[in-house]
Amino acid sequence: MNRFLAWLKKIFHKQISTNPIYLDKALNRFLLPTVFIVPLITLYLNFPGDPEIPFNPRTNYTYFNEPISPIPKNLFINTNKAEIGELLFNSNLLSTDEKFSCNTCHTLETGGTIRNYSENSLNPVTVFNAGIFYRSMDVSQENYSSSILVNDIIHFPKEMGDINSNLNNLIKDNKIYNKIKLIYGTNPSIEIINDSLLEFIISLYTPNSKFDKFLRGDKNSLSTGEKEGYLLFKELGCISCHQGVNLGGNLYQTVGITDDYFKDKGEPGDLDQGLYLKTKKEEDKYKFKVPSLRNIAVTYPYLHDGRYKSLKEVVIMMSKYQLGKQISEDDTEKIVSFLNTLTGEYKGQLLK
Ligand code: HEC
Ligand code: HEC
Repeated sequence: MNRFLAWLKKIFHKQISTNPIYLDKALNRFLLPTVFIVPLITLYLNFPGDPEIPFNPRTNYTYFNEPISPIPKNLFINTNKAEIGELLFNSNLLSTDEKFSCNTCHTLETGGTIRNYSENSLNPVTVFNAGIFYRSMDVSQENYSSSILVNDIIHFPKEMGDINSNLNNLIKDNKIYNKIKLIYGTNPSIEIINDSLLEFIISLYTPNSKFDKFLRGDKNSLSTGEKEGYLLFKELGCISCHQGVNLGGNLYQTVGITDDYFKDKGEPGDLDQGLYLKTKKEEDKYKFKVPSLRNIAVTYPYLHDGRYKSLKEVVIMMSKYQLGKQISEDDTEKIVSFLNTLTGEYKGQLLK
């Protein structure tokens, strides 16, 4: 051992020493502890430590090594604007005949979507976490990510009528009208409506799911079955489409890649046309936005046509038509148990 230390001192002297006495001290105080203790700590921290599940060298379960990152615990929110956005979100005044609000289709109490939607309309996707891409993750500032396109997420569906002519309705609600005057200093305009609605949508983020606690280093936050479900999710390739902080929400993909989903389902209807409805481009037929899987346990029914009520059915469908794999009962259950860990908190309460 002593010979080894002497040798270490010798090479460090050779390489960087100009003042051997000073270096000798430095070596004892800093270099030696670094040489021995740091590797030991690193080894300890990386030790799998979970005897139930075989150690997978590709996933040593630290946040930095995982392809998904947790939802930030805090995002900067301009509360004045978000309050106006919240009032607008819940107000029927923005729609013709005052029949619809955003909350009619994106009911916050039921996961930001609806559970009994009409057969003839698209199944609304949840508004929870739909806005987090739009705010840069720097929690101290009200800055938008550079790719911001408000029209990508703030929409006024045909059920609401012509938004521009409905703007005048807002004068009927003193609270909204006065607050807009106070904060923006002018009368309501479409830009103000978009801006405040967007701020409210950004405020609908849901941190602290069991899965996020796990990503932050709490290895016991997931059971063995849930961890195995997560491994399967990565190994089967679900993650190639359901990716990033929201496990989806950032790309369009064809439904029915490895098998003809719409043929098996029966004659495709209008709503099955997907992105084509908006772009009228032939190659966009049957393409849909890959939905975020955050809070998936509470946002049933699933898919654009609300066809399935249980996650089990969707996992089997996805494996068959998106990945061309037949999945065992056991693996399906593990993936479902993993998906159930993605429910987060809004205002400190787990979504229901
Ligand atoms: C008639 C039902 C309905 C109403 C009313 C409605 N939406 Fe939607 N919303 C949908 C549907 C369906 C989708 C998903 C399909 C699509 O994008 O067309 C959606 C998607 C969204 C998304 C998610 C976008 C994404 O890609 O992640 C946001 C955000 C949203 N709506 C906000 C709003 C706001 C704000 C209002 C009120 C101004 C509103 N919605 C009113 C049905 C509705
Ligand atoms: C090739 C891309 C792709 C792959 C791979 C993929 N998905 Fe999907 N997933 C989608 C698209 C697109 C949709 C939306 C389909 C629709 O609305 O009809 C979707 C929808 C879902 C939904 C329903 C979401 C909702 O809110 O309705 C779940 C759950 C889901 N996928 C889980 C999985 C799982 C689990 C796997 C792996 C076994 C997987 N997906 C693999 C593209 C993919």
